[in-house]
Amino acid sequence: MRTQVVIIGAGPAGLLLGQLLHKHSIANVILERQTADHVLGRVRAGVIEQVTMNLLDEAGVGARMHADGLVHEGVQICVDGTRHRLSFKELTGKTVMVYGQTEITKDLMDGRAAVGAPSVYSAQDVSAHDISGDKPRVSYQVEGNTHEISCDFVAGCDGFHGISRKSIPESAIDTYERVYPLGWLGVLSDTPPVSEELIYVRHPRGFALCSMRTPTRSRYYIQCSLAEDIESWPDERFWQELKPRLDEEARERLVTGPSIEKSIAPLRSFVAEPMRFGRLFLAGDAAHIVPPTGAKGLNLAASDVRYLARALVEHYQERSDAGLDHYSERALARVWKAERFSWWMTTTLHKISDNPFDYRLQLAELDYLFRSKAAATAFAENYVGLPY
Ligand code: FAD
Ligand code: DHB
Repeated sequence: MRTQVVIIGAGPAGLLLGQLLHKHSIANVILERQTADHVLGRVRAGVIEQVTMNLLDEAGVGARMHADGLVHEGVQICVDGTRHRLSFKELTGKTVMVYGQTEITKDLMDGRAAVGAPSVYSAQDVSAHDISGDKPRVSYQVEGNTHEISCDFVAGCDGFHGISRKSIPESAIDTYERVYPLGWLGVLSDTPPVSEELIYVRHPRGFALCSMRTPTRSRYYIQCSLAEDIESWPDERFWQELKPRLDEEARERLVTGPSIEKSIAPLRSFVAEPMRFGRLFLAGDAAHIVPPTGAKGLNLAASDVRYLARALVEHYQERSDAGLDHYSERALARVWKAERFSWWMTTTLHKISDNPFDYRLQLAELDYLFRSKAAATAFAENYVGLPY
């Protein structure tokens, strides 16, 4: 088999890239290790930036997002029981959208099915060959049979644990990493959210986040230790631990109920650069990870894909490789700023150490954020998404 671009991974990065390439008549095949249902079942991102919305529109899959997504004009931060509001709309003129990653994934999968573009799910042992030469190939197995696709380019969109980044010789890639000694325990429940806006909570017992998917479906997270076992967190224990971290009003409004999903996510900052080796281009979590505080992961995957799609269109339609040659540099300029912001939100809002000095610094940071219009504007600019 032959195609122009083989895309490894059917997460948001791979599916969005496939859709944008298809719009420009660039043939592509997506290879995904899991089943489509498994990919659809992963509850992750909830907040998307204006620029990501625009890109979903450009890919022709934005209709349901506009109909069902919740536009948020601000966010609330609760510090030791007192809530403060920051208005994106007033500070930047922009807003964000609450629309779940599962819904975006479904819209992208439906869009791909509607145009009949090929995807192979349950593809095992995916491996990229000859990526440093002009004629790369990607092999994989389905039900024990080996297949091979020759192509012009390989897009590594297979997340942090995928094979794409690992296909690059160690000497050709630098990695930067910070691992935080904590995780997020998340619960999804069909109960009304405590507030119309997200509440990020800094509390001596640890961070918490009150988020949502719809007016009747809530998403809550609490900071937990990495050693926690999900089995030792029955729903009742989760609600009991969330409640004392909230302010009085939120505590009174909290409606508890059975969880429909529960998971633990470790927190990590990671960047691999450059995001290219020969004819292999990395995009999204395959190249970088941010801790979830700040809601930047999916949005960064989308901005990588925007740069990469435009560079590939330039290659095929204008016979210019300038975009491909600048891809890594352009993408990383945005990535590092989101790394900084996510690191800042994480270290400012979590219980990171037992040293009271760190705690007082957090309070000073947050007090400055609430009192200074300059600091609030810088926060809002980063939260709604920096321009491309
Ligand atoms: P992935 O979604 O990881 O997709 C990679 C795909 O590749 C997967 O389907 C995987 O099965 C497949 N794959 C892996 N290995 C192989 C292989 N060997 N062969 C073939 N396929 C393979 N981001 C935000 O922007 N906003 C938020 O509010 C937000 N909240 C989050 C909350 C939590 C709790 C977590 C965990 C993450 C959150 N994120 C958020 C981050 C966001 O979910 C990720 O950044 C996003 O999924 C990255 O998309 P991706 O396509 O690059 O990678
Ligand atoms: C959600 C996740 C985040 O990481 C975040 O910062 C905000 C919201 C969510 O899942 O709703």
